[in-house]
Amino acid sequence: METRMMNAHSPEAQSWASQLFSAGKLVAFPTETVYGLGANALDKDAVLSIFAAKGRPADNPLIVHIWDRAQMEGLCEIPEGAEPLMDAFWPGPLTMLFPRTSRIPDQVTAGLPTVAMRMPSMACTRELLKTCGLPIAAPSANLSGRPSPTTAAHVMEDMEGRIPLILDGGPCQVGLESTVLDLTRGAPTILRPGGVTKEMIERVLGQEVRVAGSVLRPLRPEEKALSPGMRYKHYAPMGSVTLVEGETGAVLALMRKNCLADRQNGRKSCVLCFTEHMGDLADCDPHDIGSVRNDREVAHRLFDILRKLDQEGMETIYSEVIPPEGVGLAVMNRLGRAAAFRTVRA
Ligand code: TXA
Ligand code: MG
Repeated sequence: METRMMNAHSPEAQSWASQLFSAGKLVAFPTETVYGLGANALDKDAVLSIFAAKGRPADNPLIVHIWDRAQMEGLCEIPEGAEPLMDAFWPGPLTMLFPRTSRIPDQVTAGLPTVAMRMPSMACTRELLKTCGLPIAAPSANLSGRPSPTTAAHVMEDMEGRIPLILDGGPCQVGLESTVLDLTRGAPTILRPGGVTKEMIERVLGQEVRVAGSVLRPLRPEEKALSPGMRYKHYAPMGSVTLVEGETGAVLALMRKNCLADRQNGRKSCVLCFTEHMGDLADCDPHDIGSVRNDREVAHRLFDILRKLDQEGMETIYSEVIPPEGVGLAVMNRLGRAAAFRTVRA
């Protein structure tokens, strides 16, 4: 299959994408978080072909994307607490779990009683969802196990030959996947942190929000995953990533020592560090993850850097860490998983 790439803003591209969705085919499209691989959420065969194209395990459910709240009618119930969150954060990078009806195929939810709903904010994405008029089931448009794509070129790397169309809307603004919030079992719980932070949700709800335990550590063998996606190895570069924490001077010294020692042993090694520390680690092939004062910048860059590490054939990678607050929680969740939560203290 030839995979075409078209400008996401062009009316021809939007119209072709709509026709493909109506015909049960797949289209990759940009959102403010990461690129999605979409299909008509009400067409179970179309949904199954998403799993095939990604090599995704069938028991990992998908998010349904809409542009207008009226589209949820007949698909799910809206639990208490959701309304003010929709007012505050939709359209935007917040996904919420709602009890679903049988109109949503089991293939979308992996048979779970809830469906994940999200209203993306990017203008061309909203236009596409409006033009096709369908709820669109879409995971991130990467091969399963690869970092989520934040540019159309990343999607092409993974999906060339597997899908007919990629809409190119430029680099994604947030760069990490949406926050997934569960309001269906008591205390509101973040299953996956993202651009809408714990602190932002708490301000709207006026109550404390929990964070699933496995966000900053591996899932224990006996522990049940609240979100099936948390069971799978994710965002892992081929090389081995080690997080280095502690006082800045000591961190930089240890990263440098380990990187240079690995090179002595013939391994291809590099460091991920803040813009402010690039000069200190100039002999360690430093990759700039953004400013130490700007967690949103680090989020925006992270997945592109993780993909580069593979292209460069890096075998060992040492990375600085940021405080797990605000968007820093989402960054440390993704970086932690890329490192299989391997951390050393300097
Ligand atoms: O930003 C995003 O959310 C992107 C863009 C394309 O919208 N999508 C995305 O989808 O990241 P995906 O499939 O890569 O991640 C969806 C996550 C998975 O961890 C999945 O297990 C969880 O949401 N999820 C989906 N439905 C669920 C449900 N009913 N219950 C619990 N977790 C669910
Ligand atoms: Mg994904």
